[in-house]
Amino acid sequence: MKVLLFGKNGQLGWELQRSLAPLGELLALDRFDQHYCGDLSNPNGIAETVRALRPDVIVNAAAYTAVDKAESESDLANTINAVVPGVLAAEAKRIDAWLLHYSTDYVFDGSGDKPWREDDQVGPLNVYGQSKLAGERAIQASDCRHLIFRTSWVYAARGNNFAKTMLRLAQERQQLSVINDQIGTPTGAELLADVSAHAIRHALKTPEVAGVYHLTASGETSWYDYAHLVLDYARQAGLALKTDKQSVTAIPTSAYQTPAQRPLNSRMNTEKLQSVFDLQLPAWQKGVERMLSELYGK
Ligand SMILES: NC(=O)c1ccc[n+]([C@@H]2O[C@H](COP(=O)([O-])OP(=O)(O)OC[C@H]3O[C@@H](n4cnc5c(N)ncnc54)[C@H](OP(=O)(O)O)[C@@H]3O)[C@@H](O)[C@H]2O)c1
Repeated sequence: MKVLLFGKNGQLGWELQRSLAPLGELLALDRFDQHYCGDLSNPNGIAETVRALRPDVIVNAAAYTAVDKAESESDLANTINAVVPGVLAAEAKRIDAWLLHYSTDYVFDGSGDKPWREDDQVGPLNVYGQSKLAGERAIQASDCRHLIFRTSWVYAARGNNFAKTMLRLAQERQQLSVINDQIGTPTGAELLADVSAHAIRHALKTPEVAGVYHLTASGETSWYDYAHLVLDYARQAGLALKTDKQSVTAIPTSAYQTPAQRPLNSRMNTEKLQSVFDLQLPAWQKGVERMLSELYGK
């Protein structure tokens, strides 16, 4: 079996290189690949790549993920997050391949406090969320065999994410302000990648599982409590932080202006994924502590 992975060096793409390897022949591209176009700003080039390689499974871990910058680069965000997923889906349909794609809780408007279900009404608040939703719709419209995993608050030891930003800032500053009214679930790229490999195996044998799924770790937290877990761990591991525990201030979203509006409620209901793929998703703290242990060796 041939698996074609786009975005091999992102947080998720890096972990997928590991988890997809045992499935068969893995062709992993980033945007700078010398032989095949892996640049998602080039829809024709991406179509040519799929035509040349004729994979059995396409996994798209590449995305325009700069949420604030997307507000002023909507054309590029749309090409990468919506147009090209549609191209991948059309090419997958042509060769009868599976497409595994990732989306986000930002397709929802963040209202209420219930975990979002797959068929809840969407209503993205920002350009990034709109572009990811348009990508989902393009894939669904193509009628190719697909899995779309909506996830949230992704972190990994390799790459940029909230936990690593907090660790950097706490080494530079005496005071930190962290939002405490956005609620969601930090989800490790390792977990996403492992579930992806499992789900592909399952889908190849049971094609009727095609569709949209919510995939996050279990439990929920705020950015503020997440920051505390990360900084407490770092202190115990002996990292010299300028910010002490009392100097982390909880602030509402309204006190932190950003170009893109963000949803307050990012909770995701993952029952469908756990039941269809017969999986149990671990508590979010387990994966975060594992990443910290990788970073600090404790
Ligand atoms: N990060 C999150 O918190 C989060 C939350 C919800 C959903 N998601 C979704 O989860 C998936 C994986 O995200 P992630 O956290 O792994 O993101 P990431 O670390 O930002 O990785 C995105 C990857 O896409 C690549 N990319 C950007 N523009 C490209 C282009 N024109 N051509 C080819 N590659 C391009 C980036 O390459 P460069 O490094 O060269 O720019 C990077 O390797 C995405 O679909 C994302 O929308 C992420």
